[in-house]
Amino acid sequence: MTESQRQALKNYWQDYGIEYKQGPIDLIDIFGRTAPTVMDIGTGMGGSCIAMASEHPENNYLAIEVHRPGVGSLLRQAHDDDLENVRVSSHDVIEVLQYQIPPKSLDEIYIFFPDPWPKKRHFKRRLINPEFLRLLASRLKSHARVFIATDWGDYAESILAAVAETPSFINLAGDGRIAPRPHWRPLTKFEKRGMKLGHPIYDFVFCIKGGDNTSLKS
Ligand SMILES: C[S@@+](CC[C@H](N)C(=O)[O-])C[C@H]1O[C@@H](n2cnc3c(N)ncnc32)[C@H](O)[C@@H]1O
Repeated sequence: MTESQRQALKNYWQDYGIEYKQGPIDLIDIFGRTAPTVMDIGTGMGGSCIAMASEHPENNYLAIEVHRPGVGSLLRQAHDDDLENVRVSSHDVIEVLQYQIPPKSLDEIYIFFPDPWPKKRHFKRRLINPEFLRLLASRLKSHARVFIATDWGDYAESILAAVAETPSFINLAGDGRIAPRPHWRPLTKFEKRGMKLGHPIYDFVFCIKGGDNTSLKS
C-alpha cells in the first residue's frame, strides 16, 4: 500500500465508506438522494469506476472491492475529484448482497474483469456461477441490467452456461452469444493487461426476464 492510499483510507473512508453489518442499508440515506444506483463489483484500483462516476453525476456508484490498496486509491480519486456520487464497501460482495442490499434495489450491476482463476482446479473460486447470478437477479429492479466483461475464453463460456441456467435473466445478445462492447465502458486496467497478452475481450449484457428493457443497445 502506498502512503497516499494509506492516508486516503484514514482521511476519506468516513466520507465514502460503508461499514459492513448484517442488516439492510438504506441507499437513499447512504447517497443522500434518490438516483439510479449502479453496483460496480471488483473495482480494482478504482480508475474506471471514478471515470464513470465523473461522467454520470446523475447516477449513484456503489463500488465493492476487498483489496485495501485499491480502496485507498479509489478514495483518493473520489476526494481529489470532489465526487459526491460514489460510495465504497470493502467487504466480500456475496455477503454485501446477501445482507446489506435490499431486494429489487439496484438499477445496474457491473463486473468488469473478475479474477479469472485460470487453473482448472481453481474454477470453483470464480465469482460468476448460477447461484451468484440468482443472487444478483434478486437485488435488481425489474428494468435492470448486468454488464460483465472478461478476457478469458473459458470463463466467458462458463458465464454463458451460468446465464442459461438462470431463468430470471435474458442474455440480450441471444442465447450463447456475446454482446457488443458497451460504448460507455471505460478501458480498465485489467482489460489493458489482457489486450497486451493478445486476449480477445468478451462482453455480456443480461436483463431481468419480464422487465421492460429488453432491447440490446450499446
Ligand atoms: C482482476 S481485478 C479487476 C479490477 C478492475 N475491474 C479492472 O478491470 O481493472 C478483480 C477485482 O475483484 C476483486 N474481488 C474479487 N472477489 C471479490 C469479492 N468477493 N468481493 C469484492 N471484491 C472482489 C479483487 O480484489 C480484484 O481487485
